[in-house]
Amino acid sequence: MTKKTIAFSSASVTNYFDADFSYLGKIVSKDEGIIITDENILKAYSKKFQGWKVVAIKAGEQHKNQQTVDSIIDQLIELGADRQTFLVGVGGGVLTDMTGYVAAIYMRGIRCGYVPTSILAMVDAAIGGKNGIDVGLYKNMVGIIRQPAFILYDYSFLKLLPQAEWVNGFAEIIKHACIRDVAMFKLLEENKLTDFQKDKELLSKLIQRNALLKSKVVAKDEYEHGERKFLNFGHTIAHAIENLYQIPHGHAVSIGMGVACKISEQLNSFSDTTRVTGLLKKYGLPPQFEYDKEQTLKLLRADKKKEKDAISYILLHKIGKPYIASLPFQQIETLI
Ligand SMILES: NC(=O)c1ccc[n+]([C@@H]2O[C@H](COP(=O)([O-])OP(=O)(O)OC[C@H]3O[C@@H](n4cnc5c(N)ncnc54)[C@H](O)[C@@H]3O)[C@@H](O)[C@H]2O)c1
Ligand SMILES: [Zn+2]
Repeated sequence: MTKKTIAFSSASVTNYFDADFSYLGKIVSKDEGIIITDENILKAYSKKFQGWKVVAIKAGEQHKNQQTVDSIIDQLIELGADRQTFLVGVGGGVLTDMTGYVAAIYMRGIRCGYVPTSILAMVDAAIGGKNGIDVGLYKNMVGIIRQPAFILYDYSFLKLLPQAEWVNGFAEIIKHACIRDVAMFKLLEENKLTDFQKDKELLSKLIQRNALLKSKVVAKDEYEHGERKFLNFGHTIAHAIENLYQIPHGHAVSIGMGVACKISEQLNSFSDTTRVTGLLKKYGLPPQFEYDKEQTLKLLRADKKKEKDAISYILLHKIGKPYIASLPFQQIETLI
């Protein structure tokens, strides 16, 4: 196990990499801890939860809403949860987002920690303190930024992770490589998904590298005034088309990264578009998609991150060297 503490402006987070789930008992006492998980994970890994109080919710993004929050709170009250209670979210990003949110509001705030179980949650969702829920079709409309006390990584949870979820998670890993880590980009080019799935050591290093990469970006800019925006690479188009076409988030981000590379090429003679799209394809991700431009633009105009008549778009000078460009909608229309 490797222990690494990251200091954010609001609080410190201790990461336990390459840990065993049983170590949780050393961080949180079973008297004070309550695990929040989803039904899939409870069923697949029930042995790990023996001796813990568990609240299990229905799996899936469609349950990341106020109704589920209310039901978790009812169960916490029934279990006698008080200010000493320590909530532990065990699951994918839906679970870590909701556990963080409930912990922030229950009795005006109690302690929480995460055990991310999907690649996406391990390298992205569990990190950075953003949490919250969806409201109708509006994703992550309600929530706050509040750091968990710890994140524990037990890679044995990945044994039963569906293949599609592996692919989704790798979209964010490729995103990290594009904005911050050209050496990791090469490492991803030299290997393929099955190499990481077979080689525990290789995977463990990759996850830790990504988790620390995101942590450091966020630590410098917790409230997203500057550098944290780089993490939105590929996400401007992604947010619009994932709702429009009901495609998985990782696929939408992949398409978004393809579009961002093309725009970078036109505005700034970025010359590595084929390297990026080649890598995306290698990991089972689509770099292109025939989307309806008019409808997509309409959604971009409604994006919660837009400014007046422009959108701040993350583009690349080179792989590993991103920049923020404020692009007027009119210009985007001709670029995409
Ligand atoms: N807070 C943030 O900064 C942040 C960043 C990125 C994404 N997110 C959020 O994360 C969510 C997506 O995360 P996700 O893709 O992990 O979704 P998820 O939590 O829905 O998990 C995906 C599916 O995989 C299953 N699963 C998870 N781990 C498993 C395991 N080890 N074995 C078997 N099945 C497993 C889940 O039950 C679920 O069916 C979205 O709601 C998104 O908004 C948040
Ligand atoms: Zn994403």
